[in-house]
Amino acid sequence: MILVLNGPNLNLLGTREPEVYGRLTLEELEDRIEAWGAELGLSVVCRQSNHEGTLIEWVQRAEGEGFLGIVMNPGALTHYSYALYDAIRAQPLPVVEVHLSNIHAREAFRRTSVTAAACVGSISGLGPLGYRYALEFLAERVGAQQP
Ligand code: DQA
Repeated sequence: MILVLNGPNLNLLGTREPEVYGRLTLEELEDRIEAWGAELGLSVVCRQSNHEGTLIEWVQRAEGEGFLGIVMNPGALTHYSYALYDAIRAQPLPVVEVHLSNIHAREAFRRTSVTAAACVGSISGLGPLGYRYALEFLAERVGAQQP
């Protein structure tokens, strides 16, 4: 079971800067992610929050809830949340960071990810497919532990 977390403002997908983030709504993105998970033999639970503390608590509890890995798009928290960095470091599950847009090709403040250093890897700029590739990686990594 894989936890997919989306952070602040990702509930606005579809209408938020569609030239940057595309026209898929969060609901459509999550449907796609669940279908990709099913193809890979993974059950996937998707959650979104605009609150740093909620995301931190989901990360802290993920192992206890039975998840084997986490895919996370932390939104703008990526660029400054040492608290989220610490939460990822404090737990044992592999976390893959995903960004829809290429954070390295945008404003200067987006070029730094403080959270990526706590993750096993990160994917940026590949749109919704980034989530698929993250799931593929986790399927290899944790697949054998699936019930
Ligand atoms: C984002 C990139 C962040 O810089 C931004 O704050 C987001 C979305 C992305 O998916 O491209 O909210 O994480």
